[in-house]
Formats: sequence, C-alpha cells, structure tokens
Amino acid sequence: MAKDQLVIFDTTLRDGEQSPGASMTRDEKVRIAKMLEKMGVDVIEAGFAIASQGDFESVRAVAEAVQTSRICSLARSAKKDIERAGEALKPAALSRIHTFIATSPIHMDYKLRMKPDQVVDEAVRAVTTARGLTDDVEFSCEDASRSEFDFLCRIIEQVIKAGASTINLPDTVGYAEPEEYGALVHRLMNTIPNADKAVFSVHCHNDLGLAVANSLAAVLQGARQVECTINGLGERAGNASLEEIVMAVRTRADVFPVETRIDATQIVPTSRLVSTVTGFPVQPNKAIVGANAFAHESGIHQDGVLKYRETYEIMRAEDVGWNTNKLVLGKHSGRAAFKARLTELGITFDSDEAFNDAFTRFKDLADKKHEIFDEDLQALVSEVAAPD
Ligand code: KIV
Ligand code: ZN
Repeated sequence: MAKDQLVIFDTTLRDGEQSPGASMTRDEKVRIAKMLEKMGVDVIEAGFAIASQGDFESVRAVAEAVQTSRICSLARSAKKDIERAGEALKPAALSRIHTFIATSPIHMDYKLRMKPDQVVDEAVRAVTTARGLTDDVEFSCEDASRSEFDFLCRIIEQVIKAGASTINLPDTVGYAEPEEYGALVHRLMNTIPNADKAVFSVHCHNDLGLAVANSLAAVLQGARQVECTINGLGERAGNASLEEIVMAVRTRADVFPVETRIDATQIVPTSRLVSTVTGFPVQPNKAIVGANAFAHESGIHQDGVLKYRETYEIMRAEDVGWNTNKLVLGKHSGRAAFKARLTELGITFDSDEAFNDAFTRFKDLADKKHEIFDEDLQALVSEVAAPD
C-alpha cells in the first residue's frame, strides 16, 4: 500500500538556536541550511525574523540560498512580527510563515493575560495577515498539550477557516506522554469539522526524554508533519531529534504508515556540522549520530557481528553516513575481534601459542586502558615477537 509522506520540518536554526549558547551567525545558518536542503528536509525554519536584525538577515540569506526546501520564519501573532517574517522571506522560492499563540489556561492567564475569546480573535487575525503575505501558513497552539480540548477545537477550526494549512500542536514544556499525546491528535483530527483541510503537525520537547516517542505516537494517530532538530538541539532539554525520527520510521517501516524524503546518508555529516558550528558535542551514546552508535565492544557482540551483521545491528552505519561500523577493542572484546583486527593490519602468527600469548597481553593491557588502538596492537605484537 502506498505510504503517506511525513513532512520533515527542521527547526535547528530556530528552536535549536534557542539552546543556551548555541547561537549561529548568518553564514553558519546558510551552511547548515544548504546541508538540510541536500538532505531533503521539506521545511527549514530559518529563524525568528523579528527577534533581531541578525536573525532577520539570516532568514533572508537562507531564503536566498535555498531552492528546494520551503523556508519558514516564526512570528508571534502580532502584525509587526508577521510582516517582518514576510519581508525576510521575500526572496524564498517556497516560503511559509509560522505564527503562534498560547492556548493553555496557564499561559493565557499568566503570560498573555488574555481571555480565550481574545486569543481566538488574535489567532484568526494573525493567520489572515500571514495569508496576505504567503500562500503557506502554519499556526501553532503553543502549550497545546496542556490546553483544554474544547478550546483547541474551537481555535483550530477558526484558523483553518482563516487559511492555515498546517496546524501544529506543540508539547512546549515536554509534559506529554506518548499514549495521551497520540490520543489528543487522533481526537482533534476526528472532532474538528474542517480538520481534513490541514496537515496536523507535532513539535515535542524533551524535558522527560519523551520527545521522539511522543512525536512517533502522534504519527501513528495521523500527524503528518514532525518538527525536529539535528542532534535533538533545542530549548532546555531540546527537541525531538531529526535523525531518530527519520530512522525510526525507516527501520520500522512495518509499523509506521509513512515515509520521508530524507537522504539518510547526509545525517552524520550534517550532525557533525551542527556540532562544530554550535560547539555542542554529540554524546557518544547518542542514537544514530553518537560515536558509539555503531561500535561494538563486547566479545559476544563482536563475534556475532563478524559472523552476520544483523545479529546486533538494526541499521547499517553506511546508510546514515558513517564510513562503516566499528569493532572497538577493549576489555570485553574476544578472540574473534582481536584476530580480525590483527588480520586487517596484516599481522599473523606462526603458532597458536604465539597468538594466545598476544591475546593474554592484550587482555592485560585492556584492563588498564579504555580502548586499545592499532599502535597498541603493534607494540604488543612486537613484545610477543621478542618475549621477555
Ligand atoms: O515549543 C513551542 O511551543 C514552540 C512554538 C513556538 C512552536 O517552539
Ligand atoms: Zn519549541
């Protein structure tokens, strides 16, 4: 059966940049945006045009540099925000204005100090203004996961009538859990009379480490756009990570009724670029893009992988842009990996005894050192050749 397209909306350059300390220059944003375009990202949120002159220029420069991805600017519901976004996006081949207002009681009462009726009017005004500037308008109900269901239905129905073609339901504070969030998406899509006129989108934060799980639960219930970032960068604990969403959908194609346009071989190079530009290292055990994501250290695993990769690998390192998987030699490694690495280095032994001696020396060294490198092996083999 043909699969639906899952729109990948990357917000590394906007929400990702909201990670304290991760701000990017205009030229850095353009470099990253070009990589995202090459990767096949559908929508690139390039910034928040009204936030500063620098961000305005960044959105504009990205809009000039990118041809095939849609370029988006965030804008609050105020007219001046939306007009600034529209101005920055003028050079874009494909543009989107993403406007938002908070819909949860806590945000409406304490932050906006507005009544629900005022919030609906403001949202409709914002979408109408944005539609005057571009034919592609996304509306976000900020803090959707803590908003009242009936109010969400009301405001979403109105903004769709005003011309919003994407409705985003942010889990702004990372409070949702997968079953509940998926159910919210399902219920909204099945209650709002004009829901079929818009793409439903999710935008999950990772405060409880559930951003990817929540996004995928929503996809299973009908969401067809996921907002995400490279390396999971983003405000506080970050956003859902693009690489995890894309590879989950691809690796578990038996579960997810969607496909993306992403060229996954660009994932690791893009992750590295974002890490270099922001100065945020990628943790070694980070899924897909961490240095250990395709590294095997234990003897049992190494033996399995040497016999048949799929024993311990559900994806191929090469498919996400690594050169290859890695057998790391350490204290848990066994004879099979040790021998395989020596063979790759062109080292052989003329007797089992010599091999066993080398293996014993390797294990002794591995007890003292986290990882054994090729130079360690060379030294160790020369000790076997010249025993003490
Ligand atoms: O987390 C959030 O609610 C946002 C919106 C502005 C989309 O980033
Ligand atoms: Zn966010």
